[in-house]
Amino acid sequence: MFEEATVYSPVIRQENGTVSVTFAREHPGFSDADYQRHRARIAELALTYRPGDPVPEVDYTAEEVDLWRQVVGDLQDKHRRYAAAEFLDGSRRLGLPSDRLPQLREVSGRLRALTGFHFTPAAGIVGLRDFYGSLAEGRFQATQYIRHCSLPYFSPEPDMMHEVVGHGNALANGRLAALYRRVGRAACRAGSRKALEVLSRVFWFTLEYGLVRENGEPRVYGASLLSSVGELEQFRTAAEVRPLDVAAMARQSYTVENFQPVLFCAESFDQLEAFYDDFLPAVEAGEPALVGS
Ligand SMILES: [Fe+2]
Repeated sequence: MFEEATVYSPVIRQENGTVSVTFAREHPGFSDADYQRHRARIAELALTYRPGDPVPEVDYTAEEVDLWRQVVGDLQDKHRRYAAAEFLDGSRRLGLPSDRLPQLREVSGRLRALTGFHFTPAAGIVGLRDFYGSLAEGRFQATQYIRHCSLPYFSPEPDMMHEVVGHGNALANGRLAALYRRVGRAACRAGSRKALEVLSRVFWFTLEYGLVRENGEPRVYGASLLSSVGELEQFRTAAEVRPLDVAAMARQSYTVENFQPVLFCAESFDQLEAFYDDFLPAVEAGEPALVGS
């Protein structure tokens, strides 16, 4: 979960130590006091987490377990039709269950054995440099809450389904995990705040929403798109698809409340890696030509 591309529900710790999560009026959990208490308990687990601790275990409700079964089962079906080969390789290796809701700790342990990446819990918003910087050390800061059960197929907030199904499967593939690490290293060395913001935008249009052409048709490797059942059904017809282009990505507005109107497609995974070969040194240099748009 990271700052720029997130509609999030702020987590507040009161002076007396009580933790609460504030929901916007349009959030499906706005009038659900049980859900709000549940989210506050999960947020508190993350706030009390310290580096080196085991990832805390969440006491998920029966509804959330059912929601996982329903949504992850549907996603896995869609992945076979729409996901890119690298993502499907990661998915096979990680072997996420669709018949039960795994703990983040369990997924993290499996991921660490595969590519060295692991998850640590995030209560809510994480700053850009913190979020991306942790990728350099193989750490992905993830939420542990599950979206509200009344809205199963789309969550503007990055919930654990997004983190684990979208990013977890990607991070289980060696080529994708290497790209995440390279983004992290560039973020640590970013030559300016503006360069970091452009890096975040490029991450959004690639590792969150990116497409790659396989046998003439666009397939998905982006974690956000791959964790949205509704958007996976529509992206080929509803979105305008453009070639990789840093300046165009930096200029392109995007939405987190709705489906993306514009997506960027690499011609191959090799091309995507070459694109990052050119782009990341410019981020580290804070080049005006890169960041001035
Ligand atoms: Fe994400």
